Amino acid sequence: MQKHKMVPQLLGVLTLLLVTLRSVTEAKCLLSGSWENDLGSNMTISSVEANGYFTGSYLTSVSTNNNTIVESPIVGYQQTSDQPSFGFSVQWKFSGSVTVFVGQCFEGPDGHRHLYTTWLLRSEAQNEMDDWKATRVGSNIFASKS
Ligand code: BTN
Repeated sequence: MQKHKMVPQLLGVLTLLLVTLRSVTEAKCLLSGSWENDLGSNMTISSVEANGYFTGSYLTSVSTNNNTIVESPIVGYQQTSDQPSFGFSVQWKFSGSVTVFVGQCFEGPDGHRHLYTTWLLRSEAQNEMDDWKATRVGSNIFASKS
C-alpha cells in the first residue's frame, strides 16, 4: 500500500490514543485536595491511588462531647470512574466514636467539585442496653477549596 493511503488510518489511531489518554489523565472529580463542608469542617485527602484507595485527615468544627477537637485520620475508597461514588471512615482521635461517610463527587462545568454525603456517627454505648441510642445519621455537602 502507498504511504499516503495509510494517513487516514494513522489519524484514526492517533485520535483514539488521544481520547484514551485524556480519560486516563483527567478523571473527572477526583477526591484528592482540600474540602470544607456546610458545618465548617475541613478535610484533606491525599493523592488517590490507581485502585481508588485514599487516606487523609479531618478537622471537625463540631462534636458530640466537650473534648478538645484534634485532627483525625481518614481511610477510604472511591470508584475509579468519572464523578465517582466513594466511602470513607474517620477514626476520631478525641472520642471513642467513628464516622462513616458515603457519597458522590459532582463536577460542574466551571471545574468546581462538590461531595454530596450521608454519614453514620457511631458513639460508644456504655452498655448493651444503650446500643439503640448510639448511632446518629446525617448529611453534609463539601465544596473543594483547591
Ligand atoms: C464525636 O462527636 O464523637 C466526633 C466528632 C463527630 C463530628 C461529626 S461527623 C458528622 C458531622 N460532620 C462533621 O463535619 N462533623 C460532624
